[in-house]
Formats: sequence, structure tokens, C-alpha cells
Amino acid sequence: MTIDIVIMAAGKGTRMKSRLPKVLHKLAGKTLLQHVLDTTAQLGAHPTTVITGHGAAEVEHAIASSGARSVRQMPQLGTGHAIQQVAPLLADEGTTLILNGDVPLIGADTAKALADACGGSKLALLTIVLDDATGYGRIVRAPIAQGGHVLGIVEHKDASPEQRQIREIYTGIMAAPTTQLKRWVAALKNDNVQGEYYLTDIVAMAVAEGVPVVASAAPNETEVLGVNSPLQLADLERRLQKRQAEGLLESGVRLADPARFDLRGQLNVGQDVEIDVGCIFEGHVTLGAEVRIGAHCVIRDAVIEAGAVIHPYSHIEGARVGAGALIGPYARLRPGAELGPEVHIGNFVEVKNSTLARGAKANHLAYLGDATVGERVNYGAGSITANYDGANKHRTVIGADVHIGSNCVLVAPVNIGAGGTVGGGSTIARDTPPGQLTVARAKQVTLSGWTRPVKAAKK
Ligand code: UD1
Ligand code: CA
Repeated sequence: MTIDIVIMAAGKGTRMKSRLPKVLHKLAGKTLLQHVLDTTAQLGAHPTTVITGHGAAEVEHAIASSGARSVRQMPQLGTGHAIQQVAPLLADEGTTLILNGDVPLIGADTAKALADACGGSKLALLTIVLDDATGYGRIVRAPIAQGGHVLGIVEHKDASPEQRQIREIYTGIMAAPTTQLKRWVAALKNDNVQGEYYLTDIVAMAVAEGVPVVASAAPNETEVLGVNSPLQLADLERRLQKRQAEGLLESGVRLADPARFDLRGQLNVGQDVEIDVGCIFEGHVTLGAEVRIGAHCVIRDAVIEAGAVIHPYSHIEGARVGAGALIGPYARLRPGAELGPEVHIGNFVEVKNSTLARGAKANHLAYLGDATVGERVNYGAGSITANYDGANKHRTVIGADVHIGSNCVLVAPVNIGAGGTVGGGSTIARDTPPGQLTVARAKQVTLSGWTRPVKAAKK
């Protein structure tokens, strides 16, 4: 049977008080809309249509690579009006699954079960009972004595004080028989408090026609909470982070505190990984077995190999850290930093687009940019590669077992021969030979007979 999927994403999201269209706000590093698209992608090869309107160009740009098509709703006259716009594109029979772009954590299984409950003939609503139902559409039912079946949905703003006591709400997600859906939305009226065409009014139409209405309870609150305000977005973020943290704890990761953990992307972990409080992981991060991450590190798109230790307050992006390496505290690894096994990078050391071979060390206050560093090199405190001549970047190549003293400037392009030593305070602008000491600084002199100036006497 055909299943069409529609994601409504045309609304303004006034309560977000933001220039950005609501569905493009991010939850755990991914837009609300992308969360829903990733879920619909798991439902198989059904066509997904996104209804855009407010900020349409921006929203359409954001989903360009998703494979979903978009239909514009101009102006935005309500959720029922939104479905009117997409109706001509839907199949002639089967089921239409309608999702809200601002209900981001709906599970694929839940959506699938709802579509199955519809089966092309019933109207299936996803509902939930909330402690605080403020703002949501309420499920109005017949008295229990008469069977308690669903009679309709009344929007919060249109609800009577008695109806506002109802805690069973419509989650914004439904599966409707496509043929009837087209007919129902065409007949909607906007005679309500908001002057909008409410999709939710089709429920009473279905009841009037004797089409069975099934209200399926969502398996949990987090899956169906909507985002209408920054407060709700932050609340959902915490819930999602807690869920992710619990998943990691269950898989054996030792998080010091699941309430102080943020994952905005994907984290792959080996056995016996420890993560201290306040860390943020973004993009795709892989942590090998027995990796330890200290407090307050920010790690994005990185691979940290087995046994490496990242000390607190380190910032790692687009880098690879070899097995058993020691990084930080306060280290910064930028894109293209490739560190071999047992490398040590200490406090206030920045590494960019550089390869460090096994056992190389840069322990204090240094910069390595566009450098190739051999095994066991010791790179002194305060030394830097001058890799940029104002127009182009150049490489510095440091051979194995080299010692670079403190406060050196290596002016690229330059090669430091293997086993050589560069004296502290040197500015090296030409290649140095292997195995020898090179010093490039003014000679130290002592002036005999020099005296300190004396303070002039006050007049
Ligand atoms: C809607 C439901 C309400 C439900 C709630 C769940 C209606 C009338 N009400 O209310 O019963 O409890 O969701 O979260 O459906 N949209 C459009 N075009 C429009 C208006 C909205 O595409 O003209 C989109 C929005 O971008 C959003 C979704 O539809 O993704 C819901 O719109 P919103 O205005 O947030 O509806 P609610 O008042 O939350
Ligand atoms: Ca909403």
C-alpha cells in the first residue's frame, strides 16, 4: 500500500522570537527538520514532502541534499491549509503520514506503527497524556459510559475551561486515508479563534462520516514534545542528551555525570572509555579503548586512538591522536593535526595541518603549523613555525630525533636535519645539517664599565 509522508514546516514559529525559521533551530547539533527527515528516511522508500513557507528559501536550501521534495505554502493559513497545498501531489489511495517539523524526536517505529494503524482506511492520531497540556490540541472523547471514543480535537485557544482540563493531547502526528484526507481538507473552514484552517478539524469530519478514529498513545513524552519556544527547545535538548548519555553508560562508557555531557553528532567508543564532566562532542568522534577525556574538552570530527589521554580544557577539531598520546591540558589541535603514537602535546600548544611521528613532544606554549615532525623530536617551549609569508603557506620539515630549543622561529620553507639541535632563541631561515648544533642569534656580549642609570634628584 502506498504511504505518502508529509512534514509540515511552513509555520513562523513566532514564540521562538528568532529570525531563523523555527524548524532550522538545532537540537543536539542538528536542525529540528533534519531530525524528522532522518526518521522518515528509515521508513523505507516512501516519498517525503516538506511544506515550506516562512523562510522557505532558507528551509529548502537546508534540505536540498535530503532527497525530500518541497511544496510552498504562501501565505500560511494553518495546518489544514498546509495539507491543502500538498494534496494534489499525494497518491490516489493508501495512507498519508503527517509529521510536524517542530516535533523532532518522533521514533521511526512509532511513525511506522501509526501508518499501520491507519492502513489506508482509519484515521490514526498519535496522542499522549501530559501533566501540563497547555498550548496543545485536546482530544475530546465521548463519556466513558458511551464508549469513550474520540469525537474530535479542540485547539487550546478554542477550548472551553472544562476542555482545558483534558490532559490527553494531539501530538501533531497523524496517519490518514489519503482519499478521504483530500476531501476533508478541501472542506475545512477557518471559523475559529485564530482564523486558521485547522487540520485537526478533520477528526470531527471522520467521526461524522463513521470513519473509525484510532488514538494511539505515544510510547514516551520525549518522542512527541513539540518545540515552540527557546525554553521547550532547551528542555528537549536536555532530554535528548540524557537519553544519549544513558545509552553510552549502558554500553560501558564511564561518564562522570550524565547530566553534564553533550553529544552533538555521533560518538563511537571502544571499551573502558572515561569521560569527565562538561565535555562536548560534535560531528563524528571515535574514541579507542581506554581513552580518557578530562573535564571541559571540546572535540569535533576527531579520532582518538586507544589509551590516549586528553587532559582538561583541550580543544580538538579535525584531528587524529595516536595511541597512548598525552594531550593538554589547554591544548589546541586544529584540522589536519595527525599525531602518531605516544606523542605529547602540552599546555598552550597549537597544532595545525601537521604530522607528528611517534614519540614527538611539544610540551609548552608552542605552534606547529604545516610541519612534518619526525620521531622523538623535542620541540621547545615558545617555539613556532613561521608558516605564512603573508601570501602563501610553507612547510617545515623536522627530521627524527631533532631538539628544537626554546623560543625558536623556524621560517618555512625550511628543513631541520635529523638528529640536529637548534639552540634556544634561534631564528632559522635556512636548512640546518643533520646531527649538529645550529644557533642563529646575536652573540652574547658583556659590556665592561657599564653602570645603571641613576634616578635624577628631585628639584
Ligand atoms: C498543532 C496542532 C495541535 C497539536 C500541536 C502539537 C493544529 C491546528 N494544531 O498546534 O493540535 O497539539 O500541533 O505540537 O494542527 N505549519 C505549517 N503551515 C501553517 C501552520 C503551521 O506548515 O500554516 C506547521 C508548522 O511549521 C509546524 C506545524 O505545522 O511544524 C505545527 O504548527 P504550529 O503552529 O506549531 O501548531 P501548534 O499550535 O503547535
Ligand atoms: Ca507546534
